[in-house]
Order: sequence, then C-alpha cells, then structure tokens
Amino acid sequence: MVSKIKFENVTKIFTNPDGEEVHALNGVNLDIEDGDFVCLIGPSGCGKSTMLRILAGLDKPTEGAVYINGEKITRPNYDRGLVFQDPNLFPWLNIHDNIAYGLKTRHIYKKDKDKVGQFMELVGLSGFEKSYPHQLSGGMCQRAALARALIGEPNALLLDEPLGALDAFTRMNMQDELLRIRKEKNMTMVMVTHDVDEAVYLANKIVVMSPRPAKIEEIITVEHSYPRDRNNDEFIALRSRILKVLNFAGKEKEAEYYI
Ligand SMILES: Nc1ncnc2c1ncn2[C@@H]1O[C@H](COP(=O)(O)OP(=O)(O)O)[C@@H](O)[C@H]1O
Ligand SMILES: [Mg+2]
Repeated sequence: MVSKIKFENVTKIFTNPDGEEVHALNGVNLDIEDGDFVCLIGPSGCGKSTMLRILAGLDKPTEGAVYINGEKITRPNYDRGLVFQDPNLFPWLNIHDNIAYGLKTRHIYKKDKDKVGQFMELVGLSGFEKSYPHQLSGGMCQRAALARALIGEPNALLLDEPLGALDAFTRMNMQDELLRIRKEKNMTMVMVTHDVDEAVYLANKIVVMSPRPAKIEEIITVEHSYPRDRNNDEFIALRSRILKVLNFAGKEKEAEYYI
C-alpha cells in the first residue's frame, strides 16, 4: 500500500548569509497513513518547521523528496491546509471574509459560499461573521485560521505550533476541537509541538526528533483510544518515556544547580 505521505531520505541544508552551511535535516524517512494524527516533537531549532514547510511545498529538500498519494511535492497546493502559531488573519477583513478569502482567490466563492457558514459552525464561530480579528480573543482567531485552512477541504492539515500562543485552558479546549474536527472530517493531521503532554493527548504517532541536524530518534505509536485521560498511568508513563528520549528526564547528569 502507498503511504499517504512519505518522507524519503530528506536532507535539508541552508546556507547562512555569511556562507556557513546549516544542516537542518539529515536523511529523514517517515510514513504517514490516512487518518494519522502525527506530532513532531523535538528541541527548538531541530528542524520541525523545516519538515512541515517541505511537506507544505514552501521549501525544497536539498536531497530526497516528500510524496503525497504517490506524487512528489514540489509546490503548495490546496490538498494541504496550513495553520501557524500566528493566525495571520487580514486585519482589514471581517472573520467571514477572512475565511472566504481562499474561495475568492480560487474563483469558487459563488459556488461554495454556503461553506463559509458551515466551516464557521464547525470551529464554533457562528455569530462572529461580522467581527474583525482585533475584536476576538487569541483562541477565536486561531479557530478562524483553522476554518480558513479547512474550507479548502484539504487531504491533510499541517499545524506548526498552532496552539503555542494560547493560555493553558484555551489550549486544552482547542486540543479537543482538533480531535473533534479530525473525527468529523476524517482528516490526516501533522502537527509540530514542543509540548509533550499535547503530543501524548493528540497523536497516534509521535515522532521524536534529535537536536540539529535532525534525524528521527524514535517513532512512538500511541494505541490509546480518545478521549484520553491526562492523569492515567499509561499517559504518565508515555510522557516519561518521551522526556527520556529527549534527555529531559533528569538525574542522568550532575545538576549545575542545587536548591
Ligand atoms: N531560511 C533559513 N535560512 C537559514 N537557516 C535556516 C532557515 N530556516 C531554518 N533555518 C535553520 O534550520 C534549523 C531548523 O529550523 P526550524 O525547522 O525552524 O526548527 P524548529 O522548528 O525545530 O525550531 C535552525 O537552526 C534554523 O536556524
Ligand atoms: Mg519551528
């Protein structure tokens, strides 16, 4: 069977303005199946966003390739929706028009305009059509960004720390929203996060990455059904296991501080 998304030996080398080479990814291989919720987790600067940008078609690998449904990715396309940490809404457009923007640029707004209301409802924003981004909370703006990405009916939703700027309670609510949308739309999701709990709560596949040049340290399959209980023993054991792979479990080396 062809995997839905396949990273094949992906290496990415950037060149700094002073000519120095930065090896961001080093021979990354990863298979993502239909309906997977994959979380990429690893230290800052290890190449998580680079992986997602290559998958989005915004960047090209130096070596190797990424395939979606067997086809090599060379540019962005509507089959992959993108959500970043910053919702990036147009401040001069109301929420309805922000969400409708992609339909208009594709000249399918006339045919699909009813979808705007449907997707606003899907993300829980009904009634805020006429509001402007500055009138909404951070969580609501991120819901609008989600609706904008989903309205193109992508095959896969790519999320780069989408909940990173939200407060803890809003963040947990949005995690449940993502799971609900995924179930309703039967969608593949690939999400970058640096929050171990978030990854254990959401993903069925957790890809733990090493420091730069990033390679995949371990792929952990999470079999637990949804909704997950953040307090049960298996959840806590999984969290400890990931922290260990990331070398944050403590005790291994002498601490440089004592309290
Ligand atoms: N356009 C670029 N030019 C030069 N270096 C880059 C560029 N984009 C990313 N990098 C470098 O590649 C490495 C990985 O970056 P990134 O994928 O953003 O990391 P992460 O998302 O895991 O924090 C970092 O060292 C970063 O500085
Ligand atoms: Mg990043």
